[in-house]
Amino acid sequence: MWPYPRILAHRGAGVLAPENTLAAMRCGHAHGFRGVEFDVMLSQDGIPILMHDPAFGRTVPGVGNVAEHSAAQLMKMDAGTWFGAAFAGEPVPGLDQVIDFCRDAGVWMNVEIKPVPGFEVETGAAVATLIRDRFDSADGGATTSGDGGLLPLLSSFSVAALAAARAAAPELPRGLLIEKLPDDWQDQAGLTGVRSLHLNQQFLTEAIAQQVRQAGYGLFCYTVNGPARAAELLRWGVDAFCTDRLDLIGPDFESAR
Ligand code: G3P
Ligand code: MG
Repeated sequence: MWPYPRILAHRGAGVLAPENTLAAMRCGHAHGFRGVEFDVMLSQDGIPILMHDPAFGRTVPGVGNVAEHSAAQLMKMDAGTWFGAAFAGEPVPGLDQVIDFCRDAGVWMNVEIKPVPGFEVETGAAVATLIRDRFDSADGGATTSGDGGLLPLLSSFSVAALAAARAAAPELPRGLLIEKLPDDWQDQAGLTGVRSLHLNQQFLTEAIAQQVRQAGYGLFCYTVNGPARAAELLRWGVDAFCTDRLDLIGPDFESAR
């Protein structure tokens, strides 16, 4: 049901490095994490790059929108200074570069498809196509690529993005992100052909965890930053979660309990 690492570094390295950068990927890996979550958006020219917010101002200085800039422009922008002077000039990475890093380092990826509103289909299709090309996924099994490595898991809050990813690369595993489980969640899961539900841990109860697991879906939670809550969620049967607090919840938290 869950062949992947169980404790993931959120946005690369949580609070320890600027989110969604290669510096974050290196930091998470240096802390021993074997699984990572990050956010992917499309540039104006349709290239998948790592970014959480559709507008500049928080992690990238200035004003403007990601979707109005080419990948070449975005990848020259400073995504590190906001976090600290030590990271000044850390660029916005392309998904391709992050795949290179993670494959070399043996880090498994949960790729969150984060479309700019209005670009759900394009983003889902572009991300799935890139990953399919990079992993020879059509030649592998349900969870492994042609060379035997674990395929990335695509997740999104956008049903349209997941449906487009499914159409582009049906063999890639998918997960549906939902803040709170709605009554029709099984319909949404069926529409997108997902294997896992990714729920906000704040609203998760033991009964909901049981419901999801009994229906045969993997259960992932975001974002778990307290060790006591992390232990409780694992007791309830949660398969995996991501954390910002790599300093409090390490990659071997589960076996260390
Ligand atoms: O994929 C889990 C989590 O990252 C979803 O929320 O806003 O942190 O991308 P967000
Ligand atoms: Mg995310």
